[in-house]
Amino acid sequence: MISVRQHFEEQAAQCAAIGSPFTARVLTIVLDRLDRDRSVGRAILDWPGDPRPDALSLRVAGGLHGLVLSGDSPILAAAYPGGARFGDDGYLREAIDHALGENGARLEEALASPPQTNEVARSGVLAGGFLTVLAVTGRPLSLLEIGASGGLNLLWDHYRYDLGGVAWGRAEAKLHLKPTWQGPPPGLGPAPVEPAPVIARAGCDHSPIDLHSAAGRRRLRSYIWADQVDRLGRIDAAMDVAAQSDLVIDKADAVDWLARKLAQRPDDAATVLFHSVVWQYLTGASKAALSKIIGQAGQEASAEAPFAWLRMEADARAEAAELRLALWPGGDDRLLARACYHGRWVDWCGDERG
Ligand SMILES: C[S@@+](CC[C@H](N)C(=O)[O-])C[C@H]1O[C@@H](n2cnc3c(N)ncnc32)[C@H](O)[C@@H]1O
Repeated sequence: MISVRQHFEEQAAQCAAIGSPFTARVLTIVLDRLDRDRSVGRAILDWPGDPRPDALSLRVAGGLHGLVLSGDSPILAAAYPGGARFGDDGYLREAIDHALGENGARLEEALASPPQTNEVARSGVLAGGFLTVLAVTGRPLSLLEIGASGGLNLLWDHYRYDLGGVAWGRAEAKLHLKPTWQGPPPGLGPAPVEPAPVIARAGCDHSPIDLHSAAGRRRLRSYIWADQVDRLGRIDAAMDVAAQSDLVIDKADAVDWLARKLAQRPDDAATVLFHSVVWQYLTGASKAALSKIIGQAGQEASAEAPFAWLRMEADARAEAAELRLALWPGGDDRLLARACYHGRWVDWCGDERG
């Protein structure tokens, strides 16, 4: 187990490397200003768990960003991107020090929960899978997502896409997803249906985020790094769609929920179970139980009511994600694409129609 200090240094270096120099700077300053005189300092420096898997530094970064977004620390907000003193490093140091003192209790509250994201750019990867199911089965879709967070990817058909040069989706959508594409565009069939015939959608999560509430939207935003302006713009556009929808994510464990939902699946549509960046968080027992439930649903599938298992999860070396699709009847399981975890690039395989 590494120390809290090593963890902050490691995370700061990672933030700098993957496009958030501001968060890197914030973490470096927090580390410098922390002491055991203040309660929040003790809570961080004497963290009882393992800081790396607990993502301790990201809990702190999310807590600080949350103070900015809620308007509870105008001093800190001035130092953040968009603020009047942004770019003034001396002021940022003072503002963080002030927040650790004045807003310490709020920051301690933020330490209690792990960072939670809902990366809507993953829809730019998943969409190729959903469209493949449509093209291959010709059936309307009934969507089930486990580990849905706020449900932004369950609303994938409300966005606009450029998938390797093929435009698809709602022309009026504020959210446009255009991942850097390699390989052919996904085989969408002779006339891809727009809008997609999604007849039902449902999702579950251990800790669902209610995007109909301002607090829920703020929470999701707080875990996006404050200088990642494009990402914030994307999530705002997607959260507007979610807020206007009637989608409510069920608070439930994936195993029980999926068994319940599959027992009620429609007999005139393709049921698509999907998940992204969830499998790695499941216990061995949950993975085994889910695999059994999925296999059973596959056995029960028919041409009128096919069953698809679409997942965007870490590849064997955890260097990138793989998009895989298993489709029943038949149970053919194939790799559709490799992709960036954050949906920035897609390397499409191009043999999805077999
Ligand atoms: C890294 S997030 C990914 C969220 C979303 N799928 C996405 O791609 O943006 C993983 C999510 O899985 C949820 N989760 C983890 N284990 C779960 C379980 N056993 N049942 C339900 N949700 C779970 C977490 O609460 C979290 O929201």
